[in-house]
Amino acid sequence: MEVFLQLEAILESPLTFPTLECFHIAGLAVGIGTIAIVDFRLLGLGLRDQKISTLAANLTPLTLLGLCVTFLSAGGLFYSDPDLYYLNHSFQLKMVLLLGALMFQFMVRQPRALDDPPEGSARWVGAVSLLLWASIVFCGIFIGFTVVPE
Ligand code: HEM
Repeated sequence: MEVFLQLEAILESPLTFPTLECFHIAGLAVGIGTIAIVDFRLLGLGLRDQKISTLAANLTPLTLLGLCVTFLSAGGLFYSDPDLYYLNHSFQLKMVLLLGALMFQFMVRQPRALDDPPEGSARWVGAVSLLLWASIVFCGIFIGFTVVPE
């Protein structure tokens, strides 16, 4: 009981939401930042002296760490007002895009990158991945500016 009261006090503190947002942003900077490095390499922009598969394999732990921090902080942000968020169109779109991005990441982009595609042959994979993750960031920003219907 005591633990729940303490947890409630933490959740109600005015510092909790901005602190969680800091972790959300730090996590996505690491997660999406490392995804973007491989995507730009697939596009043939930068790091061309590095093997795509080595880059993808070496960055995977950081990508997973970043995404874990983002998801853990997301739970706290969402829990602060679930009724508001799940009716918010930017939030809804963000969740759909997130599902698509995760499926694309683990079913298409990562296997292709680890397979060392011939130079330039998987440009579209890097482009689609970058577009998906960037759209999720944009939707995240728009959540706070989207009016929830009454
Ligand atoms: C890699 C995945 C994700 C990315 C890139 C991402 C990105 C963002 C960004 C850029 C913001 C805006 C922060 C700001 O303006 O200060 C945000 C806020 C937020 N995100 Fe995420 N997010 C992700 C996953 C999630 C998930 C899975 C959830 C929920 C289950 C979630 C829930 C929220 C909430 C509730 C906010 C606060 C919105 C507000 O009131 O302004 N996010 N996210």
